[in-house]
Amino acid sequence: MTKRVAIIGAGPSGLAQLRAFQSAQAKGAEIPEIVCFEKQSDWGGLWNYSWRTGLDEHGEPVHGSMYRYLWSNGPKECLEFADYSFDEHFGKPIASYPPREVLWDYIKGRVEKAGVRDYIRFNTPVRNITFDDSSKLFTVTVHDHNSDTVYSEAFDYVVCASGHFSTPRVPEFEGFSTFGGRILHAHDFRDALEFKDKDILLVGSSYSAEDIGSQCYKYGARSLISCYRTAPMGYKWPKNWEEKPLLQRVDTDTAYFADGTSRKIDAIILCTGYLHHFPFIDESLRLKTDNRLWAMDLYKGVVWEHNTQMFYLGMQDQWYTFNMFDAQAWYVRDVIMGTITLPATKEEMVANSMEWRERELTLETAEEMFTYQGDYILELIEATDYPTFDIEGVRQTFLEWKHHKKENIMTFRDFSFRSLMTGTMSPPHHTPWIDALDDSLEAYLSDKSEVKQAG
Ligand SMILES: Cc1cc2nc3c(=O)[nH]c(=O)nc-3n(C[C@H](O)[C@H](O)[C@H](O)COP(=O)(O)OP(=O)(O)OC[C@H]3O[C@@H](n4cnc5c(N)ncnc54)[C@H](O)[C@@H]3O)c2cc1C
Ligand SMILES: NC(=O)c1ccc[n+]([C@@H]2O[C@H](COP(=O)([O-])OP(=O)(O)OC[C@H]3O[C@@H](n4cnc5c(N)ncnc54)[C@H](OP(=O)(O)O)[C@@H]3O)[C@@H](O)[C@H]2O)c1
Repeated sequence: MTKRVAIIGAGPSGLAQLRAFQSAQAKGAEIPEIVCFEKQSDWGGLWNYSWRTGLDEHGEPVHGSMYRYLWSNGPKECLEFADYSFDEHFGKPIASYPPREVLWDYIKGRVEKAGVRDYIRFNTPVRNITFDDSSKLFTVTVHDHNSDTVYSEAFDYVVCASGHFSTPRVPEFEGFSTFGGRILHAHDFRDALEFKDKDILLVGSSYSAEDIGSQCYKYGARSLISCYRTAPMGYKWPKNWEEKPLLQRVDTDTAYFADGTSRKIDAIILCTGYLHHFPFIDESLRLKTDNRLWAMDLYKGVVWEHNTQMFYLGMQDQWYTFNMFDAQAWYVRDVIMGTITLPATKEEMVANSMEWRERELTLETAEEMFTYQGDYILELIEATDYPTFDIEGVRQTFLEWKHHKKENIMTFRDFSFRSLMTGTMSPPHHTPWIDALDDSLEAYLSDKSEVKQAG
């Protein structure tokens, strides 16, 4: 009997899994029967932008955490697919930090070429996944919103690719229930223009705080304060942006900080990260981790050690993204298809994971962290036929990116890099990021500058 594989989610990770199977089939292999369940009406995961917040049209929690005007926060050269280059997709070299719609277009291009859309059942959230020890089969229960029916099917393998930047982590600070302005989490942030001429407080000191603050600055916020729990971001901020130790409390219009200072504010944006949240997965199969480079219980970062018919993709904190999901998906495919043999015992898998965890615990600098993730990816790629690529080149690109950010956090997106896949040098973008207010695909790919010429 043909084996059946359920893939949960058609974001970059789930799509990598579909492409991995399709590429084996294109080389003549017989592949299992595949069904991908996607709760949204289209593919692309977080890159499929939604204006909605809260609940969607079916009453499901909105998956999207992306906002208008989001541009890639790292060079596209670090995430390029090794089997589908930017040059191939756009037919010309493009600049290094594309806005969301351009990256969404690129993600879609590869899977449209591969012809895998028919594997996906859209508008179909997975409600429950259980495993039966005697039949060795999973029961996957889903809600098909197209016909408003709930049904279950049996599968031999489950690949969970449902993402982990969607369920907000929402701490509370004293006085929140009587604060007079808006309090929102980054997950619900959509349009920076809402905060034009406002005084904004950001809580958190990671990518969301940095980028949402930069967006608000770019689109005309009057002032910004970001506050940290552990360490400041430490960039050279514009004059109207201050960094402070953690918020202690608020009253109706004022925030009070750990250094004893206070400031009047109009709104609070909690950039406090996300929870790995899998309410649809049975306890015995459910990954529990925080956002880190080595999640325990996953052999090679993907195989559920307690039941090796279950897999997770993309669950690590992410320096690398799209090409890491690919490396993982190719590896999972080969485990499912039997060309990779897992260690004979769980103990061997756990011991291997422990080695990665112990090394993870020694990492201190950003450079050490992306080097570590690069080593991990290389190990996966070497085990499969995913096209190998210049991980050392990616490491150098990350290094330069970090340096540019340190020099000037408002101009790092104006630099260009060479593709590690094709060798093509990216052209500089026609408009500096700070002046580029139109983030549409048309504006980005056109040759027209948004900067008005003097005279
Ligand atoms: C605000 C923000 C900005 C980011 N910017 C960048 C960036 O600039 N560059 C970069 O490389 N990465 C960025 N990322 C990282 C991002 O995690 C990855 O780029 C990528 O989207 C992860 O892909 P994924 O498929 O693992 O998860 P997701 O993109 O989250 O996709 C998961 C999919 O699973 C579906 N799903 C979830 N639950 C269910 C269910 N129960 N049933 C059925 N379907 C389900 C969802 O609808 C979704 O389509 C950003 C993340 C965030 C939050
Ligand atoms: N394209 C883009 O520009 C862009 C924009 C936004 C996000 N992203 C992506 O989205 C992902 C998630 O980034 P993220 O910044 O949302 O999450 P994150 O990297 O997990 O960071 C969470 C932040 O919240 C802080 N925090 C958590 N709980 C807190 C509490 N109770 N009080 C105060 N601070 C608290 C953490 O502080 P501690 O350090 O003290 O733990 C940390 O600074 C990343 O992969 C990132 O690349 C990309």
